[in-house]
Amino acid sequence: MAKLLLCTLFTLALLQLSLGSDHTGEFCNSNKKISDKSTMTNIGLVLSELETKGPSNGFATASIGQGKERVYGLLQCRGDISPKDCSSCTSDATKQIRQLCPDEADARIWFDNCFLRYDTDDFMGELDTGYGIFYWNVQNVTEPERFAKELGDLMDKITAKAVEPGNKGFGSGKTKFAPFVTIYGLVQCTQDLPKLQCAQCLSIAISNFGGGGYCDGKKGCRVFYSSCSVRFEIYPFFLPLSFYTRDEVHASHAVYHKLRN
Ligand SMILES: *[C@@H]1O[C@H](CO)[C@@H](O)[C@H](O)[C@H]1NC(C)=O
Repeated sequence: MAKLLLCTLFTLALLQLSLGSDHTGEFCNSNKKISDKSTMTNIGLVLSELETKGPSNGFATASIGQGKERVYGLLQCRGDISPKDCSSCTSDATKQIRQLCPDEADARIWFDNCFLRYDTDDFMGELDTGYGIFYWNVQNVTEPERFAKELGDLMDKITAKAVEPGNKGFGSGKTKFAPFVTIYGLVQCTQDLPKLQCAQCLSIAISNFGGGGYCDGKKGCRVFYSSCSVRFEIYPFFLPLSFYTRDEVHASHAVYHKLRN
């Protein structure tokens, strides 16, 4: 009974995370305004194609139109979520991007569960870390040097996973830091990115975890770029639930409450 209750609470906590539909950030390129009706129409067509094609496999690209009115679009969901969650994130993203960037021909929006982008220039396969969004846990880790080492090793391991053929640029994993502290990590590149550029993007993103960066010595961090994103926490935040041991669930439950209060 106690176990069931814990699992239920934990599932709720995870669900709460994944249901949060607030976007984490957007980029509207003010140097690139929409100058004609056809571009506007093509953006709408690209968005509806992405919304149709994306959720079933978590990734889609589309391009519609001719000449300088041609619009390129990309949608990607986080590699661990279901088509259903991907679909709901996609529909939030397609709606909100038009509200947030109504006049821009280069627009991007990030959620925890998905990323959506369109542009009148072809950006497919190009490494882009020009604009970034950073979130970090304000709490500092104890033993920062040992933490940085463990975290670095975990990130190397999951970066290697992400660039393995067949893994679609996605990697996740965990490492035990202390008896009741586990570090969880997730990395993901957009699927249009070649392997080498993916590794480069992840390396740039992960460098924010140390070296005096935003997330140096912090207990958790999320970095979002246009070509990749990385995240680590000391509580479970990705699926599947079967990935976690009962002790981890128990420990993470305690962590949630500590963080909330
Ligand atoms: C974390 O460490 C930094 C740098 O030593 C310090 O400025 C900051 O106040 C600490 N934050 C907390 C929440 O203790």
